[in-house]
Amino acid sequence: MKLDVHFTPAGLSPAELQGRTVFVIDILRATTAMCAALAHGARALIPVGSTEEALRLAQTIGSDDVLLAGETHCERIPGFQLGNSPLEMTEAAVRGKTLVVTTTNGTRALLACQGASAVFAACAANLTVAAERAREALEPDGHLLIVCAGRAGAFSLDDAYCAGRLAKAVLGGRRPRRGVNDAAIASLDLVRRYGDRWERPLSYSRAGRELIRLGFRDDVLDAARLDAYPVLAHFHERRVTLASVPV
Ligand code: MLT
Repeated sequence: MKLDVHFTPAGLSPAELQGRTVFVIDILRATTAMCAALAHGARALIPVGSTEEALRLAQTIGSDDVLLAGETHCERIPGFQLGNSPLEMTEAAVRGKTLVVTTTNGTRALLACQGASAVFAACAANLTVAAERAREALEPDGHLLIVCAGRAGAFSLDDAYCAGRLAKAVLGGRRPRRGVNDAAIASLDLVRRYGDRWERPLSYSRAGRELIRLGFRDDVLDAARLDAYPVLAHFHERRVTLASVPV
């Protein structure tokens, strides 16, 4: 078995992705918001790389069931119906809708992992279900990648801690000497450092502090709720949808 963590998607090569199962983490807030939307009945989310592309795609689809969602500098993009807050993804807002989504780091990280054999979105809110699927991918001789969205191409504490929690859940307490890369070891060390309380690393992180400063403290607290949106979010053929059957 081989379990690798990448602290950012930068430098991921097609060869590293090919044949691999990948879990992408942007706990503050993109993957949390995606899980919230799917848990509340969204039909699908389509991650795209820019505001312009989101507007174009929504216009091309041209349906009342399409909503534009996303942020720039953490705030809702002007003219979009939704931002990137998991708390906005209520059943009333998203049931039956397809969300075209663009965010600063999270949607780009998902797009960077196209080419893997299976890609899923992970966060605290779906950790248990994600870990179950990740364990399947790892046994008996599988190769699992956990890719953090990071922040502006650099390490982010919130995602790295979440990667450690996912790795720990997958490994079930084992600390293998072989088959894990240095970033996986470091992410497991972060879990030892911060313990089980998600709020600490999330609110200490730069992303968390920035969200709190901008008035999104409740989003940070929501992202810290373990298994709050227990869905397996599968990114496949450009869409993130519920994976209700083994994939
Ligand atoms: C991102 O993709 O960078 C974000 O999820 C930022 C945010 O909205 O908190």
